[in-house]
Amino acid sequence: MTDQPLIDLLKKLTLEEKIGQLLQLAAPFFEGTGTDGQITGPMASMGITEDIVKHTGSVLGLSGAKETIAAQQAHMKKNRLGIPLLVMADIIHGYKTIFPVPLAIGCSWDMEAAERSAEIAAAEASAAGVHVTFSPMVDLVRDPRWGRVMETTGEDAYLNGEFARAFVRGYQGKDLKHDLTRLAACVKHFAAYGAGEGGRDYNTVDMSERQMREYYLPAYQAALDEGAELVMTAFNTVDGIPAAGNKRLMRDLLRQEWGFQGVVISDWGAVKEMIPHGVAADEAEAACKAMLAGVDIEMMTTCYENHLKELVESGEIEEALIDEAVLRILQLKQKLGLFDRPFRGADPDRERDIVMSAEHRQAAREIATKSCVLLKNDSVLPLNREQKVAVIGPFAQNGDILGPWSWLGSKDETVQLIDGLKSKTDASRILTAEGSGIETVTEEQLEEALRTARHADVIVLALGEHSDMSGEAGSRADIRLPQAQLKLTARLKAAGKPMVAVLFNGRPLDLHGIYDVADAVLEAWYPGTEGGAAVADLLYGDRNPSGRLTMSFPFAVGQVPVYYNHFNTGRPQGVPDAQVRYVSQYLDIPNEPLYPFGYGLGYTTFGYSNPAISSGVMTVDQPLTVTVHVTNTGSVAGEEVVQLYVRDLSGEVVRPVKELKDFRKIKLQPGETQEVSFQLTEEQLRYHHADLAFASDAGKFSVFVGANSRDVQELEFRLDK
Ligand code: GLC
Repeated sequence: MTDQPLIDLLKKLTLEEKIGQLLQLAAPFFEGTGTDGQITGPMASMGITEDIVKHTGSVLGLSGAKETIAAQQAHMKKNRLGIPLLVMADIIHGYKTIFPVPLAIGCSWDMEAAERSAEIAAAEASAAGVHVTFSPMVDLVRDPRWGRVMETTGEDAYLNGEFARAFVRGYQGKDLKHDLTRLAACVKHFAAYGAGEGGRDYNTVDMSERQMREYYLPAYQAALDEGAELVMTAFNTVDGIPAAGNKRLMRDLLRQEWGFQGVVISDWGAVKEMIPHGVAADEAEAACKAMLAGVDIEMMTTCYENHLKELVESGEIEEALIDEAVLRILQLKQKLGLFDRPFRGADPDRERDIVMSAEHRQAAREIATKSCVLLKNDSVLPLNREQKVAVIGPFAQNGDILGPWSWLGSKDETVQLIDGLKSKTDASRILTAEGSGIETVTEEQLEEALRTARHADVIVLALGEHSDMSGEAGSRADIRLPQAQLKLTARLKAAGKPMVAVLFNGRPLDLHGIYDVADAVLEAWYPGTEGGAAVADLLYGDRNPSGRLTMSFPFAVGQVPVYYNHFNTGRPQGVPDAQVRYVSQYLDIPNEPLYPFGYGLGYTTFGYSNPAISSGVMTVDQPLTVTVHVTNTGSVAGEEVVQLYVRDLSGEVVRPVKELKDFRKIKLQPGETQEVSFQLTEEQLRYHHADLAFASDAGKFSVFVGANSRDVQELEFRLDK
């Protein structure tokens, strides 16, 4: 469809009405919403008048079929030309049926499951009248002190890109205009929000353009390549300029180089925050810089509303720039079919029928069983149904297992760990004691827990971080579990029973006091609405753990940032001729993480044959094939994530000691062997050179195959060009 009707509509708008389309306000500002919506940022007193609201182009944090229909009806009556609102919200890992947090979904290494979770989230949210989700968040992370690592899929650019694609496919489907069960996806936070210094939220990001292009940008590009309709700017600086005012980042890279023609929306307040950043003296300058940089929608601040008109009248801003931004917003409304169907998928009956349906809950349970990672198991798992189990710890039944971005997820409708375990065996075999709070503990609690434990055959500890210890503005400098829980764990050791620690948390933790005390450790993350059922499925062996870490667990926070695809340095540890001291090391802890990228256990074991390579030489036209035979050497069926890594032994710039290039998640029956083959091409060896050229180098390479980034077998080959 041509844009002519939209251009004709644009021409009818006054400058005030155009500027109104560039504003996004939270739900409370709109008539008929009935709720306070989802407030996810500082709500300043904004001086919003009725006149401003009626020109506004979009609303955030509103949902509910009835509410969105009422708000849209009321708005279109007030808007002179009846332009419908875009309804946007944070549907990050589920709408009301909450899936595991994205870092957990990442550990499933299952793109179909990720896509399905997004598809269900879109089905529920679209029936509730939402049009756009502020998801996927694809910020690469290497620092578990940052609270928002739970919202990403981890530390690898390639894997994050594959998940970004899967989420966009799930949200948008193939025909966004006519498939009313889908949402437009908004990829965020552009760019490199996960690289904040010190792991402190909103903090300075400063890296070379090459580093950014190599590691931090690919997943955004993958989401856009998959068709994501919107981009959200990050709060942080990129090379000294806040993203929301960064022309090089948005007009030159995003628009010019990548050809993105969709809508750019600021993160909450990011336009106005250019003032405290110190690159804008006032709101007028912030508005000017954001518009010149290419922010179309200003979320929840009014720099555009209050100053764009005068900036146009003074000639500082061409009205044409505003027209471009408004046209992109009208195009998005057109793509969503809002001019024909302003209520889009909002349907109270459908909402009632599908939201939290048994089918959706089952899907949430399924992906949660795939997302948990078994980190340790000294022959205590799986449990058997005859055992008396003492379930002890603050997360046994506190419902806080949905995570910090679960918005409409309801703790009351969440399957708690205690419920899950009781559904597996006679309730009389499940003993409970709180043991401790999340951050507090009393002697009475400890004593009661010990007494309870003494009556059991096995202890299941339910530990973790409350969801406010994770998520936005949830950075922690000490990434151990709270002392109260470590004290509980240590005290229960005295019971002399096998101890399983189940962790409900949003980041890789320093697990001292847990991994060295418990006999088994299951990382459950925030597993969502069916979390307790899924964990029980795994603890009793009805499902076999198959999750693999997509973010390294540090040995201690002093190691951070610690990630698998690091550089070797000129003085790596373990080099035979290096004098022991003068190598890159810590005097007090190892360099290696406690649990590496790609790591995870299950209830069976797998054997790998020696890998074979089709040739020692690769050319541009002649890819290689790497083959390995994997055997289930245990007694139960299980899934293995066979991983392929590469190392460029002599790059123009230093290259990582390993880079994930492919993987296969395979299921094997006991005794079964499967041949796994990977094709390796010259394209997969390309990287950004010093001059930013993206190319491969002739020369020697290693290729690694194995069960994680540490336990691999190595082969060599040469690229001839
Ligand atoms: C928040 C978050 C962003 C979210 C937005 C709207 O500040 O940074 O991820 O989408 O506001 O709620």
